[in-house]
Amino acid sequence: MGNASTGGRQRILSGMRPTGRLHLGNLVGALWNWRMLQDEYDCFFMIADYHALMSEYEAPADIAANTREVLIDFISCGLDPARSVIFRQSDVPEHAELHLILSCYTPISWLERNPTYKEQVQQLVTRDIHNYAFLGYPVLQTADIAIYKANLVPVGEDQLPHLELAREVVRRFNSLLGREALVEPQAKLTAAPRLLGIDRRKMSKSYGNQIDVADPPDAIRKKVMAMITDPLRIRLADPGHPEDCNVCQYYKVFDPAAHPDVADKCRNSKWGCTDCKRHLADVLVTFLAEPRAMRAELEAHPDRLRDILADGARRAQAAARQTLDEVRTLVGLGKM
Ligand code: TRP
Ligand code: SF4
Repeated sequence: MGNASTGGRQRILSGMRPTGRLHLGNLVGALWNWRMLQDEYDCFFMIADYHALMSEYEAPADIAANTREVLIDFISCGLDPARSVIFRQSDVPEHAELHLILSCYTPISWLERNPTYKEQVQQLVTRDIHNYAFLGYPVLQTADIAIYKANLVPVGEDQLPHLELAREVVRRFNSLLGREALVEPQAKLTAAPRLLGIDRRKMSKSYGNQIDVADPPDAIRKKVMAMITDPLRIRLADPGHPEDCNVCQYYKVFDPAAHPDVADKCRNSKWGCTDCKRHLADVLVTFLAEPRAMRAELEAHPDRLRDILADGARRAQAAARQTLDEVRTLVGLGKM
């Protein structure tokens, strides 16, 4: 379905919580995809600071600084504020009002059975997330999407339960009010290469196994040299199994042209793991040189960051206000 207000282009919204600098897993799994989508879609990219507050409320002081870090990473990895609306969620408080309205249309049982919620309550031991807001996390996410009438939401598989809930809430709202007022969004899954952390577990800040986009060259080198490789290859003479080696996966992603040669040298003992890793570190340092330079440039011009957020807030709010006014009228609020 096209969208009249966007010249027929479909609209996309996605977001990330500001929990700190972005790592290579975020880059490969989300940002590369988002960057590409800008060519074809009307894109809204959001820094979800209200969502961050839901779990970080005990010590929220870092949210503002982390928002700035994520914004810098967004821009330096190719999100383009001239083409896309890049904004901070709390700059558009209309999200919070739509969240309240949609919460009336969300049965508690839908939230309680959400597998992501159940998992997080069990696993997240460093935060107390037994608060009212966190249960409603996906309702705010629904509001984030619905307020822009976004058709498509590029997310990873872990977010699919939230997307399904968003669709259900929108359907219930539309059907109870007898009007297709809100747009039922669809998840947009894109096959992305899976990049593991340096210890071969899922890359995550909570494991401390990540390489950040903004890591300086010496940090990148140190982390790459610490990467776990093919466990069956101990001596140079042992033939390696590049398909089982994380280092080799990184080559596939960041230097695909070199990958066959790397695999050959590994299988046939033409080089050792130390050389292989040293070279990968060079590849990554070179690869990240451009975002690093852009970050330095932005850090030197805080006014530019402020302008980007102000412009994003203005454009996002214009769209959000329109939907919220329609919804308010529909549910009997505001007008007399
Ligand atoms: N929950 C998402 C995450 O943790 C972030 C998010 C908030 C989001 N609102 C959204 C993603 C709306 C897509 C659409 O990654
Ligand atoms: Fe991995 Fe490279 Fe060692 Fe092969 S040579 S096991 S690809 S680090």
